[in-house]
Amino acid sequence: MREALEKLYAEDRQLKTLEHAAAVLGWDQETYMPAAAVEERGAQLAALSGIIHRKAVSDTIGSLLTQLGALDESYQTNPDLSEADRAFIRIAARNYNKQKKLPSEWVEQFAQTTSMAQSNWSRAKEASDFSLFSGDLNKIIDLVRQKAGYIGYTDHPYDALLDEYELGMTTERLEHIFRDLLLFLPPFIRKIGEAKQVDDSFLQQNYPVDTQEKFSRYMLGQMSFPSERGRLDVSAHPFTTTLGSSDVRITTRYNENLFQSGLFGTIHETGHALYELGFSDDIRGTCLADCPSLGIHESQSRTWENIVGRSRQFWEFHYPELKKHFPQNLSGVTTEQFYRAINKVEPSCIRVEADEVTYNLHIVLRFQIEKDLVAGKISVEELPGIWNAKMVEFLGLTPQNDAEGVLQDIHWAFGGFGYFPTYALGNLYGAQFSAGMEQDIPDLAAAVSAGKLTDILNWLRRNIHRFGCMYPAEDLCRRVTGKALDPQVFIDYLTFKYRKIYAI
Ligand code: CO
Repeated sequence: MREALEKLYAEDRQLKTLEHAAAVLGWDQETYMPAAAVEERGAQLAALSGIIHRKAVSDTIGSLLTQLGALDESYQTNPDLSEADRAFIRIAARNYNKQKKLPSEWVEQFAQTTSMAQSNWSRAKEASDFSLFSGDLNKIIDLVRQKAGYIGYTDHPYDALLDEYELGMTTERLEHIFRDLLLFLPPFIRKIGEAKQVDDSFLQQNYPVDTQEKFSRYMLGQMSFPSERGRLDVSAHPFTTTLGSSDVRITTRYNENLFQSGLFGTIHETGHALYELGFSDDIRGTCLADCPSLGIHESQSRTWENIVGRSRQFWEFHYPELKKHFPQNLSGVTTEQFYRAINKVEPSCIRVEADEVTYNLHIVLRFQIEKDLVAGKISVEELPGIWNAKMVEFLGLTPQNDAEGVLQDIHWAFGGFGYFPTYALGNLYGAQFSAGMEQDIPDLAAAVSAGKLTDILNWLRRNIHRFGCMYPAEDLCRRVTGKALDPQVFIDYLTFKYRKIYAI
């Protein structure tokens, strides 16, 4: 038993090592790789992915799992195994079974179709012409429906797709959660719309990129990002990637006319990185060193970006430093004015630029569309019209063109059906965890006003980071907050914060 377990750990560590090697190639591709290398890089990544897939479904791993009782789940009651060992076997078996369910012909076809689709999506978005992408999207929807069939489901094919990103979540439960948001958000946004809008004109100025970068690096230091265990670089779309237990890379983007996007992009990705760097030593390099769901991962980035990074207390300490960096832009602007400006609520067409009040409506819109596409209730041809109608219904806006509407996000082009809901869940989990943290640390607000962010990091480490994916998402939520995911906590958070900002 012990021997089989040790062997499985060794196999698993090799898999992780290969995955990290693939991540180096991916990171390089998005940051420093010369343009002419794109084809060779594709071949390198495909070759490595093939090796990883074959290893992940190998008979060696299969028979070790059988020996360990993963098939009949007898390991669950084996007294010789620790809780961590049992969680390890559960996750290793799940990964193995999931990979096994997908035929390699499907995997190859999916990789090929989505790679083509992503470049066609780019062209379509640039030309703002959905018809240049709709053919690819039809193929992708066929493929994800096949995938749902391979994975299996009882209720809704979308459940099988959610499983990949938000294990344990179902379409029905999401409908419930989103119904609560739909009851609250539109009237709340209307009320804010009727109030006096905050002035953010001083943010719509030119903020020199090199100074933005300096301030981003200042922020990394304040958030205790360990510079010997990671890097900050620039890419077209900000991301975080894990190259090893002690090598987590983040990227951001600086636009001299969009100061907020660079700053909060950095804070957001640092939140992801601190999570990846916070797994406990004994699970490092194993399949347990992972998030239980993308919603939990996003809860970490959104906590730092919005709940901490857009709080008044946070800027009470950091605003003088920001002013030192941008004396011209911010001369005469008080901390309070700055705080209000970075929390301005205004419906817009673009998800990634949305404020934290309107953001989740962008997600509900995508969820409703994805679910109906997968169920075959709506066709790809109808999409732009349905999208625009929902934008009017939810946010009162009509996109000017396809680029601003149905083509704005890359997710469908890479086949990520089921991915979008995790963003909204991240906001909800983030609010619920933060409420728990505030209860646990009574003088938290004072600490943040004094620039002391380590209380937050230590709390997140102790309650969330160190466990990796040992507990499923909602179990973790219950452990940390005493109850399952409850959208009301997020609703209360928004109500409390924005009632004050907008005096409503
Ligand atoms: Co994120």
